[in-house]
This record gives sequence, structure tokens and C-alpha cells, in this order.
Amino acid sequence: MLMSLDHRPSVSAAIRATMLECNPHRKAMAARKVARDWRLGRLAFEFDVTMPDQPGRPDVPELLPPGRMPKRGKAGSERGRIALWHALAHIEFVAIDLALDMAGRFGAEMGEQFVSDFLAVAADEAMHFALLGRHLRALGSHYGAYPAHAGLWTAAHDTRHDVAARLAVVPMVLEARALDVTPATVERVRAQGDESGARILERILDDEIRHVRCGANHFADVAKRLDLVTADLWKSLVSRYFRGTLKPPFNDSARLAAGLSRDLYAGVA
Ligand SMILES: [Fe+2]
Ligand SMILES: [Fe+2]
Repeated sequence: MLMSLDHRPSVSAAIRATMLECNPHRKAMAARKVARDWRLGRLAFEFDVTMPDQPGRPDVPELLPPGRMPKRGKAGSERGRIALWHALAHIEFVAIDLALDMAGRFGAEMGEQFVSDFLAVAADEAMHFALLGRHLRALGSHYGAYPAHAGLWTAAHDTRHDVAARLAVVPMVLEARALDVTPATVERVRAQGDESGARILERILDDEIRHVRCGANHFADVAKRLDLVTADLWKSLVSRYFRGTLKPPFNDSARLAAGLSRDLYAGVA
């Protein structure tokens, strides 16, 4: 009865529409709007539509398998620098859909707080994408000007049936990897005199620590519900679903701030 009185659009329909948006700028704006509408109580906690298998994306950038990506050019060359920002923008573009899919696909079973948390992540990723897009334009380029890495969506697709597997791989492996590599990138960018770029990366790093923590917290909740030891469940899911290897060096302090203890990931590396 209550449901039939609820004339608000469902949160799942709003998420699905945002995922299907192909235009990057419009997708980023829409992701921030869904997060805001949810926060303001304008969307109903209802899951009446499914999430798309593949999110909408623009015609460019062309997506290439990792082995076919062109070399970024000499370190410090103009082309190499722009290619770095382009690669980062692409990661953030895909991250918008990863966070939306988390909320829209698993929100019904995980609850309202989970939806709130991952829609907030989606809004952050949209902001990261916007910041990187602006930086690319300041460098005379734009998102779509270079080919990009295919396969960032693979981890999502492989874990579409299991929230524990999705949390284990996407926030706790892939986003955690950003914590390891970003500090060195910040230093390099700053050494090249790109202070505004370095600041953008520092802001992204702060947000990513929160994203990993959010994933790790919800993962721990799932493990508890299943009456399993968090570390054991994580290790078994990572070995089953993550195709790469966990590579040191790890940024132990950022990982600890994100709620990942060293004994969790050190044994898997
Ligand atoms: Fe991000
Ligand atoms: Fe993130």
C-alpha cells in the first residue's frame, strides 16, 4: 500500500538512465544529479529495472586491448604528458558507471545506506572526470583524443552476479591500486611544474581512500552476514575473479587509512 502511494521515480530507474547515457559530460552531470536527488529523498528505494550489461559510452575514445595501446611517448614529452591525463580521465569515466552499477545492481539486497554510499562515490567519480577533462582541455586536448584501455569494465561484468565478488575486486583491488601508484605520479607531475595537475591528483587520492574504505566496510558486513572470516572470503574471491596479480610496492599507510590491513593483501601478493 505504501509503495503505491509513492509517486517518486525509483532510484534504480534513475541509475539505469544515467548508465545508459553515452555523452561523457551529460553522464557526469546526471551521476551528480542522481546522487543529489537520492540524498534529498526525491527517489524511491525501489528496484523495478535491471542494470545494463554494458553502460553507454561515446564513439571516441577508441577502446584497445592493453597490448595494443600505443606507447605514451618519452616520459616528460608533451604527448606523453597528455596521454597520462587521458588515461586517468578514462579510468574516472568508467569509475562513474562502476559506482552506479554497484548501487543499482546490489542496492536492493544491501540496503539504503549502501545506495547512499555508492551514489556518493559515483558523484565523486563524476567530479574527478570533470576535473581531468578540464585539465586535458587546458593542455589543448580532450577526452576522446587518444585511444583508451578496453577491459576496465571486465571486472564488473565478471562479478555481476555477486556483490561480495564485486566489492572484493573493484574497490578493494582496483581502486586500492590507485592508492599505491598515485603518490609517485603526483611527485612526477609536480616535478614537471604542473602544480594544478598535482593538486587534482591529491584530491582524487583523498577521495579514493574513502572509496576503498567504503568498499571494505560493506565487504566486511557481507562476510559477517555469511558468517565467514573477512580475509578468507576476500582471498578466495580475489583468486577466483581477479585476473591480474597484486603487485607491491603497496602504499601501506593509505591502505591502512582505507581499512585494508597489511596481513589482508600481503599474503596474496
Ligand atoms: Fe575517482
Ligand atoms: Fe573511486
